[in-house]
Amino acid sequence: MAFVCLLSLVLMGSLSISQVVDAQLHDQATLLAINKELGVPGWDVNNSDYCSWRGIGCAADELIVERLDLSHRGLRGNLTLISGLKSLKSLDLSDNNFHGSIPSVFGNLSELVFLDLSWNKFGNSIPIELGSLRNLRSLNLSNNLLIGEIPDELQSLEKLQEFQISGNKFNGSIPIWVGNLTNLRVFTAYENELAGKIPDNLGSHSELQLLNLHSNQLEGAIPDTIFALGKLEVLVLTQNELTGNLPELVGKCKGLSNIRIGNNNLIGNIPRSIGNVSSLTYFEADNNNLSGEIVPEFAQCSNLTLLNLASNGFTGMIPPGLGQLTNLQELIVSGNSLFGDIPESILRCKNLNKLDLSNNRFNGTIPGDLCNTSRLQYLLLSQNSIRGEIPHEIGNCVKLLELQMGSNYLTGSIPPEIGHIKNLQIALNLSFNHLHGLLPLELGKLDKLVSLDLSNNQLSGNIPSALKGMLSLIEVNFSNNLFTGPVPTFVPFQKSPNSSFLGNKGLCGEPLSSSCGTNGSDHENYHHKVSYRIILAVIGSGLAVFVSVTVVVLLFMMRERQEKAAKAGGVADDGINNRPLIIAGNVFVDNLRQAIDFDAVVKATLKDSNKLNSGTFSTVYKAVMPSGLILSVKSLRSMDRTIIHHQNKMIRELERLSKLCHDNLMRPIGFVIYEDVALLLHNYLPNGTLAQFLHDPTKISEYEPDWPTRLNIATGVAEGLAFLHHVAIIHLDISSGNILLDADFKPLVGEIEISKLLDPSKGTASISAVAGSFGYIPPEYAYTMQVTAPGNVYSYGVVLLEILTTRLPVDEAFGEGIDLVKWVHSAPARGETPEQILDARLSTVSFAWRKEMLSALKVALLCTDNTPAKRPKMKKVVEMLQEIKQN
Ligand SMILES: *[C@@H]1O[C@H](CO)[C@@H](O)[C@H](O)[C@H]1NC(C)=O
Ligand SMILES: *[C@@H]1O[C@H](CO)[C@@H](O)[C@H](O)[C@H]1NC(C)=O
Ligand SMILES: *[C@@H]1O[C@H](CO)[C@@H](O)[C@H](O)[C@H]1NC(C)=O
Ligand SMILES: *[C@@H]1O[C@H](CO)[C@@H](O)[C@H](O)[C@H]1NC(C)=O
Ligand SMILES: *[C@@H]1O[C@H](CO)[C@@H](O)[C@H](O)[C@H]1NC(C)=O
Ligand SMILES: *[C@@H]1O[C@H](CO)[C@@H](O)[C@H](O)[C@H]1NC(C)=O
Ligand SMILES: *[C@@H]1O[C@H](CO)[C@@H](O)[C@H](O)[C@H]1NC(C)=O
Ligand SMILES: *[C@@H]1O[C@H](CO)[C@@H](O)[C@H](O)[C@H]1NC(C)=O
Ligand SMILES: *[C@@H]1O[C@H](CO)[C@@H](O)[C@H](O)[C@H]1NC(C)=O
Repeated sequence: MAFVCLLSLVLMGSLSISQVVDAQLHDQATLLAINKELGVPGWDVNNSDYCSWRGIGCAADELIVERLDLSHRGLRGNLTLISGLKSLKSLDLSDNNFHGSIPSVFGNLSELVFLDLSWNKFGNSIPIELGSLRNLRSLNLSNNLLIGEIPDELQSLEKLQEFQISGNKFNGSIPIWVGNLTNLRVFTAYENELAGKIPDNLGSHSELQLLNLHSNQLEGAIPDTIFALGKLEVLVLTQNELTGNLPELVGKCKGLSNIRIGNNNLIGNIPRSIGNVSSLTYFEADNNNLSGEIVPEFAQCSNLTLLNLASNGFTGMIPPGLGQLTNLQELIVSGNSLFGDIPESILRCKNLNKLDLSNNRFNGTIPGDLCNTSRLQYLLLSQNSIRGEIPHEIGNCVKLLELQMGSNYLTGSIPPEIGHIKNLQIALNLSFNHLHGLLPLELGKLDKLVSLDLSNNQLSGNIPSALKGMLSLIEVNFSNNLFTGPVPTFVPFQKSPNSSFLGNKGLCGEPLSSSCGTNGSDHENYHHKVSYRIILAVIGSGLAVFVSVTVVVLLFMMRERQEKAAKAGGVADDGINNRPLIIAGNVFVDNLRQAIDFDAVVKATLKDSNKLNSGTFSTVYKAVMPSGLILSVKSLRSMDRTIIHHQNKMIRELERLSKLCHDNLMRPIGFVIYEDVALLLHNYLPNGTLAQFLHDPTKISEYEPDWPTRLNIATGVAEGLAFLHHVAIIHLDISSGNILLDADFKPLVGEIEISKLLDPSKGTASISAVAGSFGYIPPEYAYTMQVTAPGNVYSYGVVLLEILTTRLPVDEAFGEGIDLVKWVHSAPARGETPEQILDARLSTVSFAWRKEMLSALKVALLCTDNTPAKRPKMKKVVEMLQEIKQN
């Protein structure tokens, strides 16, 4: 090595050999000193070839350090020494625990081209010395605790191409010189406290591609100049105080895929030039004062996936041309003054998932071919002037999760076909219409429905006992109709306030005060554990449809094989009665192959007594193998037969997941497909789910509440998730119902296969289908529509709060619109102490437990911070919890 070096040194013109050797010795000494200060994991200091140490790059043949990458290593300490590496061109310290001021001596690194200090805890203001970094092309200070104004000294960074300062506490305004940076392509300053105007030269001197300034207090107009050179690809200005129009010039940016300008004070029309933005995928302009008609030119944006114009002043009709938008998944125009018919053409957008027309003046009828082609999950039509009857074809809308038709002029009776919408779970609201006639018994088939509102119509007859089939019901309202007879004995009814039944002609029995005299004939014992059902309902009503995708995929695999089998001569089960035909199956774990019998697996799922629990999209059974091995078998229900995937890829993914090596992950060990059912095999865990452990009264009576066990569970879950993040897997549905407990109460995070089989970024799922379970959905999901690692941290925080409070993530007891997170965060405002939030059965046992619980509560509060950037990494959460355990 040294020989090669010497040779190359001889060839160097500019420096003398002794200068180079001096520089090398200096760099080596500096690195050793840095290691002494920071204790860099992965540096083998006994190896004198320091250029080979992890994260170090040297100039070709010179042993002079040009690149230092210490990202993601959990480091903290004094960084001053780094300024000794005079030739450094690239310095990446991102994602560590550095705090204090950014060292001003970094200004001496005059060769620096790339500087990334993001995701640390750097505080105070930006040192003006950074203005000396004349060669800098990329500066990333995002996600720190920096304050003050952006110093004018940085205007000498004329080569800057990427300038990222989001997620800090910068105030003042965006300096005008930012617009003079002639190479600037990326500028992000979102989630700060910036005020004033967006510089009106921004983008006029450089080919700006990405501008993201959301969540500040910016005012004034959106400057024309950002579109001037036509290179803009992403524009996010959501949550500011911007005024004026969306400039006509936007049409110059054909590559602009994202326009998010919601929650401002914008006025005027949307320019017709929007039709020239051919890449447009997301257009979000809700909560402004925009007006005029919805321009038909949107129909030219063939990639448009989301169009959200809610809460503005738009008038006129929805342009029928929007029906050409085959990629459209969400059309949200609620809270405007739109009128006319419900646009039939839109209902033919075959990917349409959410149609929200509520709170407008739509005055047509509901078209009969409502759901012939679409995969609609949300149909929100409330508060309009819609006339006519609810068509019987509503029963074709089998994918609906939520149907809102309240406050219209609907007449006729409720079509029994509504009972075909088996997936309906979030709400069915037909209130404030002119509906009459009897309630169809078929309503009772809606066993996933959580909220039913039929109030303020002219419905008559009895409330049928068949409605007791609505097993997930939490909220009902039958008030102000013409109902007669006894209120059926059904816990969700009797638990409702009597206002849910008032204003009828002749209803009697609980919860009403008028008794029915002959003491209701309805005497079935209803001893189901209500709260358990509520948990399932809440979990089940998650907006997530992940499982369905797995099902679809597996069903597709299955059908293909079935067809093959049929072609091969139909090896039917003739001779052997009742023996299911197994189409495919595999066990991924070698030493379990002998122990698993596919026939026995299938048979176990045919017996109700083996049922462990039943969620929205799947039922879980216990299966005892002839070998004595006990499995948990998840049987997936059919949801959709249209999506087509490559079966081999799916099986590969399952196999890959089965190899993920972490104690706190529930890995699939195999699968079986028979007839039209797909079964996923897992190890059986006798202690059920964390949700059952915390909330199921039958289980709670079995165990004394025990804080150390709970802290171990919390830590284990965090470790499992940290590992998933480490291998770049984002979990799509973290909830206590998806965490299993083994015999020693070690937690295992389940449903990881869903996270891998469904990749929203590749368009395999509708954008709104990926949110997670009710109560666990991070708030930023509303505008990012992406499940991210910080989003996972939020959901984890909710689980941690459940563990600390023994409360459900969503509970009516918190009050209207308040979930567990809001309830806990607002405790100080209500004058309650943290102790009043914690489960007192645990926190009053000992001083030590109470102290640990308070520390864990702090972690949960950090995790559930509204701002994603402020939440700790999963890895950090693990560290904090382990610290609590050790102290
Ligand atoms: C490096 O060398 C020192 C003494 O020379 C020794 O104590 C230490 O264990 C060595 N470290 C490694 C990682 O080999
Ligand atoms: C960091 O170390 C330098 C000397 O190497 C010292 O001057 C400086 O005060 C230290 N900074 C802090 C914050 O301790
Ligand atoms: C940084 O540069 C300034 C001026 O060039 C010099 O005075 C100072 O000593 C340097 N600091 C370090 C730590 O090298
Ligand atoms: C910081 O910004 C730079 C330039 O945009 C980018 O390359 C880098 O990935 C960012 N760092 C992190 C941790 O995201
Ligand atoms: C910006 O914040 C700093 C420190 O928090 C404060 O001293 C200063 O007055 C603020 N400036 C403005 C313009 O708000
Ligand atoms: C920006 O550049 C223009 C010329 O292009 C110049 O007149 C102006 O002074 C510059 N502004 C700043 C703040 O540098
Ligand atoms: C759209 O682009 C075409 C060609 O680039 C141009 O002629 C037309 O004026 C543009 N339309 C609008 C409305 O900007
Ligand atoms: C639409 O999206 C696809 C896939 O991302 C892309 O290949 C295509 O170029 C886009 N179309 C337009 C007009 O931008
Ligand atoms: C719907 O409302 C619009 C605007 O008020 C009106 O012009 C139209 O005649 C109405 N249509 C029906 C069918 O009532």
